[in-house]
Amino acid sequence: MQMIPKNLKDLVTFVPNKGEPIHNWFYYKEGYSGGFVEWAVKEFELKEPIVDPFCGVGTTLLVCKKLGLESIGFDVSPLAAFVSEAKTRDYDTKKVMAELQKFKEMEPKQAGKFPNKNVRRLFYEKQLDDIYFYYRKIDKIQDARVRVLFLLALIDTTSRVANVVKVGGSLRKQKKPKMPVKKLFLGKVKKMVLDLKRVQAKGPEPEVFQADARNVKLEENSVGAVVTSPPYLNKIEYTLIYKIELGLFFREQETRLRAHIQDSATGRDFGSRMPLVAKAYFDDMKKVLENMFKFLKPGGKAVIVVGGGCFPYEVVESDDILIEEAEKIGFKKLDKIVARKYQCMRNRTIKVGIVRESVLVLEKPA
Ligand SMILES: C[S@@+](CC[C@H](N)C(=O)[O-])C[C@H]1O[C@@H](n2cnc3c(N)ncnc32)[C@H](O)[C@@H]1O
Repeated sequence: MQMIPKNLKDLVTFVPNKGEPIHNWFYYKEGYSGGFVEWAVKEFELKEPIVDPFCGVGTTLLVCKKLGLESIGFDVSPLAAFVSEAKTRDYDTKKVMAELQKFKEMEPKQAGKFPNKNVRRLFYEKQLDDIYFYYRKIDKIQDARVRVLFLLALIDTTSRVANVVKVGGSLRKQKKPKMPVKKLFLGKVKKMVLDLKRVQAKGPEPEVFQADARNVKLEENSVGAVVTSPPYLNKIEYTLIYKIELGLFFREQETRLRAHIQDSATGRDFGSRMPLVAKAYFDDMKKVLENMFKFLKPGGKAVIVVGGGCFPYEVVESDDILIEEAEKIGFKKLDKIVARKYQCMRNRTIKVGIVRESVLVLEKPA
């Protein structure tokens, strides 16, 4: 008999990860929880290697490592791919501690400035100068893994001291108290070491790629299962809320799923009732599903968390549309489990309809 956890509606969010070591090294609003992945792997008896084509900050990969399963992750965002990698490497904590000691002995001083002027104005000057100082020092760390760990700690510190808060899908300016960068940064590295000592997973290191899920190149019939969650239609625009981290530490990605189209988000396709952005989204998702169908082994399953689209004049039921697409491609629908529902509103007062967040379970027939 199927066991659906009572708290599935929470498990499909990142919130439970906030209290979980390693999962909580970087807060990713749009992620799901490790508990969700553990449940899916056990409930649907998923086989390795497990692929997550939208791996975000590596929740699926970290759980697979913990369960001793091979996994592969892709994300188009260089920030997400980096965080996934940083959270799933094997670390030698002695080496990290030795480096931490060296950093404790340094005092930050002027070492130059980040070139990105747009982002600079969102910080107190001295704090951003300190971040730049550490950024240059991290570059000189010999051990590549230790370097990755320190860089993640610095990126997290940068998000904390920036004078902005992430509200829904946008960044809002908000002055924060001036916190000492050194204390936050080195405190974060120390916490990471403690986490690693407590729960460092012993399973295989996942492979992580910065790549577009629409063109993932994996051998046909080679993958045991997929656990993933694509961007939700019209929900959060990743490149906007992570523009500080992306702007300072990474080159922006070129392609992403068309779940958001700025200019036409409110525009409508008069030939049909569906907003233009939704059409683009389903075209993209069709490519992703076709790809999955190819690389899954016969009998392989895909567990996909999807969210419906809330538009001013209608709700788009992504779950049913995607199931229909998947069936056309050849997948068999095993299940659709509704995890959450919420009211879609126009102008905060007019009820447009109910939006669903669902878990789709598909199978490539044996
Ligand atoms: C809902 S989030 C997944 C979060 C993930 N489950 C986690 O727990 O961290 C969707 C992810 O898809 C990524 N994405 C958007 N377009 C993509 C594309 N074309 N190819 C691969 N990844 C993409 C975004 O960067 C984002 O990290």
